Amino acid sequence: MAILQYLEFFVIIPCIIYLFYLTSRIKKKSWQPTNWPVVGMLPALLQNMYHIHDYATQVLRECGGTYEIKGPWRATLSVLNHAKFYSFLESTLWHKVETGLLPVLDYFFKQGIDFDLQDVFQRFTFDSICQVVLDYDPSSLCIDLPYIPCEKAFNDVVEALLHRHIVPECIWKLQKLLKIGNEKKLIEAWKAFDEFIYPLVDSSNRGELKNDFNLLRAFTKAIEGKTIVSSGGLRDLLRDTSMSLMFAGRDTTSTCLTWLFWLIAVNPWAEIKILEEIETKLLLKEEKKWRYFNAQECSKLIYLHAALCESLRLFPPGAFEYKAPIQPDILPSGHHLHESTKVIVSVYSVGRMETVWGNDCLEFKPERWISPHGRGITHEPSYKFPAFNVGPRTCLGKEMAFIQMKNVAATIIYHYTVQIVKGHPVSPRDSIVLQAKHGLRVRLLMV
Ligand code: HEM
Repeated sequence: MAILQYLEFFVIIPCIIYLFYLTSRIKKKSWQPTNWPVVGMLPALLQNMYHIHDYATQVLRECGGTYEIKGPWRATLSVLNHAKFYSFLESTLWHKVETGLLPVLDYFFKQGIDFDLQDVFQRFTFDSICQVVLDYDPSSLCIDLPYIPCEKAFNDVVEALLHRHIVPECIWKLQKLLKIGNEKKLIEAWKAFDEFIYPLVDSSNRGELKNDFNLLRAFTKAIEGKTIVSSGGLRDLLRDTSMSLMFAGRDTTSTCLTWLFWLIAVNPWAEIKILEEIETKLLLKEEKKWRYFNAQECSKLIYLHAALCESLRLFPPGAFEYKAPIQPDILPSGHHLHESTKVIVSVYSVGRMETVWGNDCLEFKPERWISPHGRGITHEPSYKFPAFNVGPRTCLGKEMAFIQMKNVAATIIYHYTVQIVKGHPVSPRDSIVLQAKHGLRVRLLMV
Protein backbone atom coordinates (compact mmCIF):
# COMPACT_ATOMS: atom_id res chain seq x y z
CA MET A 1 0.00 0.00 0.00
CA ALA A 2 2.80 2.39 0.98
CA ILE A 3 4.69 1.58 -2.25
CA LEU A 4 1.57 2.44 -4.26
CA GLN A 5 1.29 5.77 -2.46
CA TYR A 6 4.94 6.61 -3.24
CA LEU A 7 4.43 5.49 -6.85
CA GLU A 8 1.43 7.79 -7.10
CA PHE A 9 3.29 10.71 -5.58
CA PHE A 10 6.61 10.50 -7.34
CA VAL A 11 5.71 8.90 -10.71
CA ILE A 12 2.03 9.09 -11.65
CA ILE A 13 1.33 12.72 -10.61
CA PRO A 14 4.46 14.14 -12.30
CA CYS A 15 3.62 12.10 -15.45
CA ILE A 16 0.08 13.49 -15.54
CA ILE A 17 1.41 17.03 -15.07
CA TYR A 18 4.01 16.53 -17.80
CA LEU A 19 1.39 15.10 -20.22
CA PHE A 20 -0.86 18.02 -19.40
CA TYR A 21 2.02 20.37 -20.17
CA LEU A 22 2.78 18.66 -23.50
CA THR A 23 -0.85 18.66 -24.68
CA SER A 24 -1.29 22.30 -23.74
CA ARG A 25 1.90 23.22 -25.70
CA ILE A 26 0.87 21.18 -28.77
CA LYS A 27 -2.70 22.50 -28.71
CA LYS A 28 -1.74 26.18 -28.69
CA LYS A 29 1.41 28.09 -29.34
CA SER A 30 0.07 30.88 -27.30
CA TRP A 31 0.88 33.50 -24.67
CA GLN A 32 -2.06 32.40 -22.55
CA PRO A 33 -1.01 30.78 -19.27
CA THR A 34 -1.51 27.03 -18.88
CA ASN A 35 -4.11 26.20 -16.26
CA TRP A 36 -2.30 23.51 -14.27
CA PRO A 37 -4.00 21.07 -11.93
CA VAL A 38 -3.72 22.28 -8.32
CA VAL A 39 -1.56 25.37 -8.94
CA GLY A 40 -3.74 26.89 -11.69
CA MET A 41 -1.99 29.59 -13.73
CA LEU A 42 0.45 30.52 -11.02
CA PRO A 43 3.60 29.05 -12.71
CA ALA A 44 3.07 31.13 -15.88
CA LEU A 45 2.48 34.25 -13.81
CA LEU A 46 5.63 33.70 -11.75
CA GLN A 47 7.63 32.82 -14.87
CA ASN A 48 6.53 36.07 -16.55
CA MET A 49 6.66 38.28 -13.49
CA TYR A 50 9.83 40.01 -14.74
CA HIS A 51 7.80 41.55 -17.63
CA ILE A 52 4.31 41.23 -16.21
CA HIS A 53 2.81 44.32 -17.93
CA ASP A 54 3.94 43.36 -21.45
CA TYR A 55 2.95 39.76 -20.79
CA ALA A 56 -0.58 40.87 -19.78
CA THR A 57 -0.78 42.93 -22.99
CA GLN A 58 0.17 39.94 -25.18
CA VAL A 59 -2.39 37.68 -23.51
CA LEU A 60 -5.14 40.30 -23.75
CA ARG A 61 -4.35 40.98 -27.43
CA GLU A 62 -4.60 37.29 -28.18
CA CYS A 63 -7.95 36.74 -26.51
CA GLY A 64 -9.76 39.93 -27.48
CA GLY A 65 -9.35 42.04 -24.35
CA THR A 66 -10.70 39.93 -21.47
CA TYR A 67 -9.04 36.91 -19.92
CA GLU A 68 -9.99 34.79 -16.94
CA ILE A 69 -7.14 33.98 -14.59
CA LYS A 70 -7.54 30.89 -12.43
CA GLY A 71 -5.69 31.52 -9.22
CA PRO A 72 -5.72 33.29 -5.86
CA TRP A 73 -5.95 37.09 -6.19
CA ARG A 74 -6.82 39.87 -3.80
CA ALA A 75 -7.29 43.57 -3.84
CA THR A 76 -5.49 46.23 -1.81
CA LEU A 77 -4.72 49.92 -1.62
CA SER A 78 -7.10 52.66 -0.67
CA VAL A 79 -6.72 56.39 -0.68
CA LEU A 80 -8.75 59.05 1.04
CA ASN A 81 -10.36 62.09 -0.34
CA HIS A 82 -9.81 65.68 0.81
CA ALA A 83 -10.52 68.64 -1.50
CA LYS A 84 -8.76 71.56 0.26
CA PHE A 85 -5.25 70.38 -0.20
CA TYR A 86 -5.13 71.07 -3.94
CA SER A 87 -4.75 74.83 -3.56
CA PHE A 88 -2.16 74.45 -0.84
CA LEU A 89 -0.23 71.99 -3.02
CA GLU A 90 -0.02 74.62 -5.75
CA SER A 91 1.77 77.20 -3.60
CA THR A 92 4.09 74.54 -2.20
CA LEU A 93 4.95 73.57 -5.75
CA TRP A 94 6.35 77.00 -6.74
CA HIS A 95 8.53 77.01 -3.68
CA LYS A 96 9.90 73.52 -4.36
CA VAL A 97 10.76 74.30 -7.98
CA GLU A 98 12.70 77.38 -6.91
CA THR A 99 14.49 76.03 -3.86
CA GLY A 100 14.86 72.35 -4.78
CA LEU A 101 14.51 71.43 -8.43
CA LEU A 102 16.35 74.29 -10.14
CA PRO A 103 19.40 74.40 -7.79
CA VAL A 104 19.84 70.60 -8.03
CA LEU A 105 19.61 70.57 -11.83
CA ASP A 106 21.93 73.55 -12.05
CA TYR A 107 24.47 71.66 -9.92
CA PHE A 108 24.36 68.53 -12.12
CA PHE A 109 24.59 70.63 -15.25
CA LYS A 110 27.60 72.62 -14.03
CA GLN A 111 29.36 69.48 -12.80
CA GLY A 112 28.63 67.77 -16.15
CA ILE A 113 27.70 64.54 -14.35
CA ASP A 114 24.87 62.15 -15.09
CA PHE A 115 22.16 61.42 -12.52
CA ASP A 116 18.88 59.55 -12.05
CA LEU A 117 16.06 61.87 -13.13
CA GLN A 118 13.40 59.51 -11.71
CA ASP A 119 15.04 59.85 -8.28
CA VAL A 120 14.93 63.65 -8.62
CA PHE A 121 11.21 63.52 -9.49
CA GLN A 122 10.47 61.18 -6.60
CA ARG A 123 12.25 63.48 -4.18
CA PHE A 124 10.42 66.49 -5.62
CA THR A 125 6.98 64.92 -5.20
CA PHE A 126 7.87 63.46 -1.79
CA ASP A 127 8.90 66.85 -0.40
CA SER A 128 5.84 68.58 -1.90
CA ILE A 129 3.34 66.04 -0.64
CA CYS A 130 4.92 65.92 2.86
CA GLN A 131 4.64 69.70 3.05
CA VAL A 132 0.98 69.65 2.07
CA VAL A 133 -0.09 66.70 4.18
CA LEU A 134 2.19 66.95 7.21
CA ASP A 135 3.31 70.60 7.17
CA TYR A 136 6.89 69.39 7.05
CA ASP A 137 9.42 69.60 4.21
CA PRO A 138 11.98 66.79 4.60
CA SER A 139 14.20 68.52 1.97
CA SER A 140 15.11 65.27 0.29
CA LEU A 141 15.64 67.20 -2.96
CA CYS A 142 18.93 68.98 -2.37
CA ILE A 143 22.43 68.68 -3.86
CA ASP A 144 23.59 65.87 -1.52
CA LEU A 145 20.51 63.75 -2.37
CA PRO A 146 20.34 62.48 1.25
CA TYR A 147 19.14 59.00 2.09
CA ILE A 148 15.76 59.32 3.80
CA PRO A 149 14.44 55.88 4.84
CA CYS A 150 10.77 56.85 4.53
CA GLU A 151 11.25 58.22 1.00
CA LYS A 152 13.01 55.07 -0.20
CA ALA A 153 10.55 52.81 1.63
CA PHE A 154 7.90 53.76 -0.95
CA ASN A 155 9.81 51.86 -3.64
CA ASP A 156 10.01 48.69 -1.54
CA VAL A 157 6.31 48.84 -0.76
CA VAL A 158 5.07 49.12 -4.36
CA GLU A 159 7.23 46.16 -5.43
CA ALA A 160 6.22 43.99 -2.49
CA LEU A 161 2.52 44.75 -3.04
CA LEU A 162 2.66 43.42 -6.62
CA HIS A 163 4.23 40.27 -5.21
CA ARG A 164 1.25 39.89 -2.85
CA HIS A 165 -1.13 40.02 -5.82
CA ILE A 166 0.72 37.28 -7.67
CA VAL A 167 1.79 34.65 -5.14
CA PRO A 168 -0.87 32.69 -3.21
CA GLU A 169 -2.04 34.31 0.02
CA CYS A 170 -0.74 31.39 2.12
CA ILE A 171 2.80 31.90 0.73
CA TRP A 172 3.10 35.62 1.43
CA LYS A 173 1.46 35.15 4.83
CA LEU A 174 4.10 32.52 5.64
CA GLN A 175 6.84 34.87 4.41
CA LYS A 176 5.36 37.56 6.64
CA LEU A 177 5.39 35.21 9.63
CA LEU A 178 9.01 34.22 8.94
CA LYS A 179 9.94 37.83 8.08
CA ILE A 180 11.61 36.87 4.81
CA GLY A 181 11.67 38.03 1.14
CA ASN A 182 9.36 40.82 0.05
CA GLU A 183 7.42 40.63 3.31
CA LYS A 184 10.60 41.47 5.23
CA LYS A 185 10.96 44.54 3.01
CA LEU A 186 7.36 45.52 3.77
CA ILE A 187 7.87 45.19 7.54
CA GLU A 188 10.99 47.38 7.33
CA ALA A 189 9.17 49.91 5.12
CA TRP A 190 6.30 50.21 7.60
CA LYS A 191 8.80 50.77 10.39
CA ALA A 192 10.36 53.61 8.37
CA PHE A 193 6.92 55.14 7.69
CA ASP A 194 5.96 54.95 11.37
CA GLU A 195 9.20 56.54 12.54
CA PHE A 196 8.68 59.37 10.06
CA ILE A 197 4.95 60.02 10.38
CA TYR A 198 4.07 59.40 14.04
CA PRO A 199 6.15 62.28 15.46
CA LEU A 200 4.50 64.63 12.93
CA VAL A 201 1.03 63.32 13.74
CA ASP A 202 1.78 63.87 17.44
CA SER A 203 2.95 67.44 16.92
CA SER A 204 -0.18 68.11 14.88
CA ASN A 205 -2.30 66.77 17.73
CA ARG A 206 -0.45 69.08 20.13
CA GLY A 207 -1.22 72.02 17.79
CA GLU A 208 2.45 72.59 16.98
CA LEU A 209 2.26 72.78 13.17
CA LYS A 210 3.42 76.04 11.58
CA ASN A 211 0.95 76.70 8.80
CA ASP A 212 -2.72 77.61 9.13
CA PHE A 213 -3.64 74.97 6.63
CA ASN A 214 -2.30 71.50 6.12
CA LEU A 215 -4.15 68.35 5.35
CA LEU A 216 -3.44 66.64 8.63
CA ARG A 217 -4.99 69.52 10.58
CA ALA A 218 -7.93 69.80 8.17
CA PHE A 219 -8.60 66.11 8.49
CA THR A 220 -8.34 66.17 12.29
CA LYS A 221 -10.84 69.05 12.40
CA ALA A 222 -13.20 67.26 10.05
CA ILE A 223 -13.43 64.22 12.30
CA GLU A 224 -13.48 66.09 15.63
CA GLY A 225 -16.43 64.95 17.72
CA LYS A 226 -17.19 62.09 15.34
CA THR A 227 -17.06 58.43 16.32
CA ILE A 228 -13.85 56.95 14.95
CA VAL A 229 -14.05 53.39 13.75
CA SER A 230 -10.41 52.42 13.77
CA SER A 231 -8.62 49.59 15.53
CA GLY A 232 -5.70 51.83 16.47
CA GLY A 233 -7.64 55.01 17.37
CA LEU A 234 -7.15 58.55 16.06
CA ARG A 235 -3.36 58.44 15.94
CA ASP A 236 -3.33 55.41 13.64
CA LEU A 237 -6.16 56.79 11.54
CA LEU A 238 -4.18 59.99 10.92
CA ARG A 239 -1.06 57.95 10.13
CA ASP A 240 -2.98 55.85 7.60
CA THR A 241 -4.67 58.88 6.04
CA SER A 242 -1.36 60.67 5.62
CA MET A 243 0.23 57.56 4.15
CA SER A 244 -2.57 57.11 1.61
CA LEU A 245 -2.28 60.68 0.41
CA MET A 246 1.49 60.45 0.22
CA PHE A 247 1.14 57.33 -1.93
CA ALA A 248 -1.46 59.03 -4.14
CA GLY A 249 0.63 62.13 -4.67
CA ARG A 250 4.22 60.91 -4.75
CA ASP A 251 4.62 58.00 -7.13
CA THR A 252 1.98 58.86 -9.72
CA THR A 253 3.28 62.22 -10.89
CA SER A 254 6.96 61.30 -10.56
CA THR A 255 6.38 58.18 -12.67
CA CYS A 256 4.48 60.05 -15.38
CA LEU A 257 7.22 62.71 -15.56
CA THR A 258 9.93 60.06 -15.83
CA TRP A 259 8.26 58.40 -18.82
CA LEU A 260 7.51 61.78 -20.40
CA PHE A 261 11.22 62.64 -20.40
CA TRP A 262 12.14 59.25 -21.79
CA LEU A 263 9.52 59.58 -24.55
CA ILE A 264 10.66 63.04 -25.57
CA ALA A 265 14.32 61.99 -25.44
CA VAL A 266 13.60 59.29 -28.04
CA ASN A 267 11.25 61.61 -29.97
CA PRO A 268 13.24 64.89 -29.92
CA TRP A 269 10.86 66.64 -32.34
CA ALA A 270 8.27 66.65 -29.51
CA GLU A 271 10.64 68.53 -27.21
CA ILE A 272 11.06 71.26 -29.83
CA LYS A 273 7.28 71.63 -30.09
CA ILE A 274 6.86 71.78 -26.31
CA LEU A 275 9.58 74.42 -25.98
CA GLU A 276 8.04 76.49 -28.77
CA GLU A 277 4.68 76.33 -26.99
CA ILE A 278 6.15 77.31 -23.60
CA GLU A 279 7.91 80.34 -25.09
CA THR A 280 4.91 81.48 -27.10
CA LYS A 281 2.05 80.86 -24.68
CA LEU A 282 3.85 82.12 -21.58
CA LEU A 283 5.24 85.11 -23.50
CA LEU A 284 8.79 84.13 -22.63
CA LYS A 285 10.14 85.07 -26.05
CA GLU A 286 9.61 88.75 -25.28
CA GLU A 287 10.63 88.55 -21.62
CA LYS A 288 13.60 86.22 -22.37
CA LYS A 289 13.51 85.18 -18.70
CA TRP A 290 12.01 82.24 -16.84
CA ARG A 291 9.09 83.03 -14.58
CA TYR A 292 6.58 80.97 -12.67
CA PHE A 293 3.12 80.59 -14.03
CA ASN A 294 -0.21 79.93 -12.39
CA ALA A 295 -2.86 77.27 -12.97
CA GLN A 296 -4.74 79.43 -15.46
CA GLU A 297 -1.64 79.92 -17.60
CA CYS A 298 -1.00 76.19 -17.31
CA SER A 299 -4.20 75.51 -19.22
CA LYS A 300 -2.69 77.26 -22.27
CA LEU A 301 0.01 74.58 -22.57
CA ILE A 302 -2.03 72.26 -24.76
CA TYR A 303 0.78 70.41 -26.54
CA LEU A 304 2.52 69.71 -23.21
CA HIS A 305 -0.80 68.47 -21.82
CA ALA A 306 -1.18 66.17 -24.83
CA ALA A 307 2.38 64.84 -24.37
CA LEU A 308 1.60 64.07 -20.72
CA CYS A 309 -1.57 62.23 -21.77
CA GLU A 310 0.52 60.14 -24.19
CA SER A 311 2.93 59.33 -21.38
CA LEU A 312 -0.02 58.27 -19.19
CA ARG A 313 -1.55 56.21 -22.02
CA LEU A 314 1.65 54.28 -22.74
CA PHE A 315 2.95 54.13 -19.16
CA PRO A 316 0.02 54.59 -16.72
CA PRO A 317 1.50 54.83 -13.20
CA GLY A 318 -1.26 52.54 -11.88
CA ALA A 319 -0.74 49.76 -14.40
CA PHE A 320 -3.41 47.50 -12.87
CA GLU A 321 -6.82 48.33 -11.41
CA TYR A 322 -8.58 45.83 -9.14
CA LYS A 323 -12.35 45.65 -9.04
CA ALA A 324 -14.86 43.36 -7.34
CA PRO A 325 -18.55 43.08 -8.30
CA ILE A 326 -21.06 43.90 -5.56
CA GLN A 327 -23.39 41.30 -7.06
CA PRO A 328 -23.08 38.56 -9.72
CA ASP A 329 -22.68 40.04 -13.18
CA ILE A 330 -21.77 39.13 -16.77
CA LEU A 331 -19.04 41.00 -18.66
CA PRO A 332 -19.61 42.03 -22.31
CA SER A 333 -17.13 39.25 -23.18
CA GLY A 334 -19.52 36.67 -21.67
CA HIS A 335 -17.39 35.97 -18.56
CA HIS A 336 -19.55 35.28 -15.52
CA LEU A 337 -18.60 37.13 -12.33
CA HIS A 338 -19.47 35.88 -8.86
CA GLU A 339 -19.42 38.10 -5.80
CA SER A 340 -16.03 36.66 -4.89
CA THR A 341 -14.46 37.24 -8.33
CA LYS A 342 -11.75 39.86 -8.60
CA VAL A 343 -11.48 41.70 -11.91
CA ILE A 344 -8.07 43.02 -12.85
CA VAL A 345 -8.07 45.75 -15.48
CA SER A 346 -4.66 46.05 -17.13
CA VAL A 347 -4.60 49.80 -17.69
CA TYR A 348 -1.17 49.39 -19.31
CA SER A 349 -2.60 46.99 -21.91
CA VAL A 350 -5.64 49.18 -22.71
CA GLY A 351 -3.27 51.90 -23.95
CA ARG A 352 -1.47 49.41 -26.21
CA MET A 353 -4.42 47.74 -27.94
CA GLU A 354 -4.88 48.33 -31.68
CA THR A 355 -8.62 47.76 -31.18
CA VAL A 356 -8.79 50.67 -28.73
CA TRP A 357 -6.17 53.18 -29.99
CA GLY A 358 -5.63 52.16 -33.62
CA ASN A 359 -2.65 50.72 -35.48
CA ASP A 360 -0.29 53.43 -34.29
CA CYS A 361 -1.08 52.66 -30.63
CA LEU A 362 2.57 52.00 -29.74
CA GLU A 363 3.75 55.32 -31.16
CA PHE A 364 4.20 58.48 -29.09
CA LYS A 365 1.86 60.95 -30.82
CA PRO A 366 0.70 63.90 -28.69
CA GLU A 367 -1.22 65.08 -31.77
CA ARG A 368 -3.85 62.39 -31.23
CA TRP A 369 -5.03 64.33 -28.15
CA ILE A 370 -5.36 67.72 -29.82
CA SER A 371 -8.79 68.86 -31.04
CA PRO A 372 -9.19 69.55 -34.79
CA HIS A 373 -8.54 73.32 -34.55
CA GLY A 374 -5.69 72.87 -32.10
CA ARG A 375 -7.54 74.83 -29.40
CA GLY A 376 -7.93 72.13 -26.80
CA ILE A 377 -7.60 68.54 -25.72
CA THR A 378 -10.03 66.00 -27.14
CA HIS A 379 -12.12 64.25 -24.54
CA GLU A 380 -11.44 60.54 -24.32
CA PRO A 381 -13.85 58.49 -22.18
CA SER A 382 -12.26 57.09 -19.05
CA TYR A 383 -12.89 53.47 -20.10
CA LYS A 384 -10.63 54.18 -23.11
CA PHE A 385 -8.13 56.16 -21.03
CA PRO A 386 -8.37 54.71 -17.50
CA ALA A 387 -5.08 56.13 -16.11
CA PHE A 388 -7.08 58.13 -13.51
CA ASN A 389 -9.52 55.29 -12.87
CA VAL A 390 -13.10 54.90 -14.07
CA GLY A 391 -16.36 55.62 -12.25
CA PRO A 392 -17.04 57.25 -8.89
CA ARG A 393 -13.59 56.49 -7.39
CA THR A 394 -11.86 58.53 -10.06
CA CYS A 395 -8.68 60.41 -9.11
CA LEU A 396 -9.35 63.57 -7.10
CA GLY A 397 -5.90 64.94 -7.75
CA LYS A 398 -6.05 64.86 -11.56
CA GLU A 399 -6.16 68.62 -12.18
CA MET A 400 -3.56 69.24 -9.53
CA ALA A 401 -1.35 66.52 -10.98
CA PHE A 402 -1.40 68.20 -14.41
CA ILE A 403 -0.52 71.58 -12.88
CA GLN A 404 2.37 70.01 -10.99
CA MET A 405 3.65 67.98 -13.94
CA LYS A 406 3.35 70.89 -16.39
CA ASN A 407 5.31 73.15 -14.06
CA VAL A 408 8.10 70.67 -13.53
CA ALA A 409 8.28 69.64 -17.21
CA ALA A 410 8.15 73.23 -18.51
CA THR A 411 10.83 74.35 -16.03
CA ILE A 412 13.21 71.60 -17.17
CA ILE A 413 12.48 71.85 -20.91
CA TYR A 414 12.88 75.64 -20.86
CA HIS A 415 16.32 75.40 -19.23
CA TYR A 416 17.85 72.16 -20.53
CA THR A 417 17.85 69.42 -23.12
CA VAL A 418 17.66 66.08 -21.33
CA GLN A 419 19.81 63.35 -22.85
CA ILE A 420 19.53 59.71 -21.78
CA VAL A 421 22.92 58.21 -20.89
CA LYS A 422 24.01 55.90 -23.73
CA GLY A 423 23.31 52.23 -23.06
CA HIS A 424 21.13 52.91 -20.01
CA PRO A 425 18.49 50.12 -19.92
CA VAL A 426 14.92 51.41 -19.82
CA SER A 427 11.96 49.14 -18.99
CA PRO A 428 8.98 49.23 -16.60
CA ARG A 429 9.52 47.96 -13.10
CA ASP A 430 7.49 45.01 -11.80
CA SER A 431 5.57 46.82 -9.14
CA ILE A 432 2.04 48.15 -8.65
CA VAL A 433 3.39 51.54 -9.77
CA LEU A 434 4.94 51.52 -13.23
CA GLN A 435 8.26 53.19 -12.41
CA ALA A 436 11.30 52.84 -14.66
CA LYS A 437 13.06 49.68 -13.42
CA HIS A 438 16.62 51.07 -13.45
CA GLY A 439 15.65 54.70 -12.99
CA LEU A 440 16.37 57.19 -15.79
CA ARG A 441 20.04 58.14 -16.01
CA VAL A 442 20.38 61.42 -17.86
CA ARG A 443 22.79 64.24 -18.60
CA LEU A 444 21.73 67.86 -19.04
CA LEU A 445 22.74 69.99 -22.01
CA MET A 446 22.06 73.67 -22.56
CA VAL A 447 19.00 74.32 -24.78
C1 HEM B 1 -0.37 61.40 -12.96
C2 HEM B 1 -0.84 61.51 -11.75
C3 HEM B 1 -1.93 60.67 -11.14
C4 HEM B 1 -2.52 59.51 -11.59
C5 HEM B 1 -2.23 58.75 -12.88
C6 HEM B 1 -3.50 59.12 -10.59
C7 HEM B 1 -4.30 58.00 -10.67
C8 HEM B 1 -5.24 57.63 -9.73
C9 HEM B 1 -6.01 56.41 -9.77
C10 HEM B 1 -5.90 55.31 -10.82
C11 HEM B 1 -6.84 56.43 -8.69
C12 HEM B 1 -7.84 55.34 -8.29
C13 HEM B 1 -7.17 54.40 -7.27
C14 HEM B 1 -8.11 53.28 -6.86
O1 HEM B 1 -9.07 53.54 -6.13
O2 HEM B 1 -7.88 52.17 -7.28
C15 HEM B 1 -6.59 57.65 -7.97
C16 HEM B 1 -7.25 58.02 -6.83
C17 HEM B 1 -6.91 59.14 -6.08
N1 HEM B 1 -5.94 60.07 -6.35
FE1 HEM B 1 -4.78 60.11 -8.02
N2 HEM B 1 -3.48 60.03 -9.56
C18 HEM B 1 -2.54 60.99 -9.86
C19 HEM B 1 -2.18 62.07 -9.07
C20 HEM B 1 -2.74 62.40 -7.88
C21 HEM B 1 -2.32 63.50 -7.04
C22 HEM B 1 -1.18 64.48 -7.32
C23 HEM B 1 -3.12 63.49 -5.97
C24 HEM B 1 -3.08 64.44 -4.83
C25 HEM B 1 -2.39 64.17 -3.77
C26 HEM B 1 -4.06 62.39 -6.12
C27 HEM B 1 -5.05 62.07 -5.23
C28 HEM B 1 -5.91 61.00 -5.36
C29 HEM B 1 -6.92 60.68 -4.36
C30 HEM B 1 -7.24 61.46 -3.09
C31 HEM B 1 -7.56 59.51 -4.84
C32 HEM B 1 -8.71 58.74 -4.15
C33 HEM B 1 -10.04 59.06 -4.76
C34 HEM B 1 -11.15 58.28 -4.10
O3 HEM B 1 -10.90 57.20 -3.61
O4 HEM B 1 -12.28 58.77 -4.08
N3 HEM B 1 -3.80 61.75 -7.29
N4 HEM B 1 -5.60 58.36 -8.61
